[in-house]
Amino acid sequence: AACASEKTSKGWQTVGTIGELDKTGQLLAKNSPVGSVLVVGRSKSSNLVAVDPTCTHKGCTVEWKGDAKKFQCPCHGAEYGADGKVLKGPANDPLKTYSAKIEGNSVLVQ
Ligand code: FES
Repeated sequence: AACASEKTSKGWQTVGTIGELDKTGQLLAKNSPVGSVLVVGRSKSSNLVAVDPTCTHKGCTVEWKGDAKKFQCPCHGAEYGADGKVLKGPANDPLKTYSAKIEGNSVLVQ
């Protein structure tokens, strides 16, 4: 999808607050400085997961399935691991992944 965000400086970008993340264990930022980002985890957990949730098949937004620890696309059933790798077609290409970290009250990715 077209994205209006400009390429700002490289490096860490704020995509939300720890309050938003901890509410559900997920933070979806559709118009973050780096584009669409889905962060999974809690602010206290050391292993945050962050991906571009845009399915590489036809562009639907994938959902995180916490129990199975994978992303699933509601459109045609593609599945991706927490590392973005394809687990199940029809998608062929992995999700784009980001590093995520907490700084103060903010959730950042790069
Ligand atoms: Fe995700 Fe088709 S758009 S499986």
